[in-house]
Amino acid sequence: GADDKGEDKKTLVMATNAEFPPYEFYEGDEIVGIDAEFAAAIAEKLGMELKIEDMAFDSIISAVQGGKADIGVAGLTVDEKRKKSVDFTDTYYTGRQVIIVTEDSTIAGPDDLEGKKIGVQQGTTGDQYTTDDYGDENIERFNKGMEAVMSLTQGKVDAVVIDDQPAKTFVSQNEGLKILETEYIEEDYAMAVKKGNEELVKKVNDAIKALKDDGTFDKIVAKYIK
Ligand code: ARG
Repeated sequence: GADDKGEDKKTLVMATNAEFPPYEFYEGDEIVGIDAEFAAAIAEKLGMELKIEDMAFDSIISAVQGGKADIGVAGLTVDEKRKKSVDFTDTYYTGRQVIIVTEDSTIAGPDDLEGKKIGVQQGTTGDQYTTDDYGDENIERFNKGMEAVMSLTQGKVDAVVIDDQPAKTFVSQNEGLKILETEYIEEDYAMAVKKGNEELVKKVNDAIKALKDDGTFDKIVAKYIK
């Protein structure tokens, strides 16, 4: 692991951004969620101990690339740009970028976003795609998805583009918001490892498969997604 000197059990250091329920978020002082529990189960299969490092979302790829973390687990979408910096494991979940608007909004789908102010979490695929499709000048970037949603409730942006499960959580925590049925794009989530570390990719892929086959993964998901 990234810092296993002097410890009995080797540590698997996971980089994440714990602002993304139900995948990773704080419950008191503890980081919990689908990714946190799944990564802990993977570490256990590998005979290692998981250590979670919370950081800004847009630092995760470079933390893995630079060896500060062994693995990036953060509802991370497999994408061509990131593949230049890191390798990805097999996909373990499907996510969707959805559009959140206020209940009284006239925005009914992606076409209506043209010329509107769109809030996103900095460095996410939602940020990348909306920037490409609607122009940099229309995008407001926030450190946390929740901050983008807050600015929507305050009328500072017209819509938020973010992954579907966090969207559901944030909308349930704020009055007067809705998720549009027309989703923006579908994506695959996978874990990021240092480029060329085929050994770790293989081990993690084997663990993902085993934990999916024996029902552990579904059990973890069922705990967090009702
Ligand atoms: N799936 C999106 C992406 O990979 C958003 C992930 C955000 N994750 C987080 N832990 N904040 O860009």
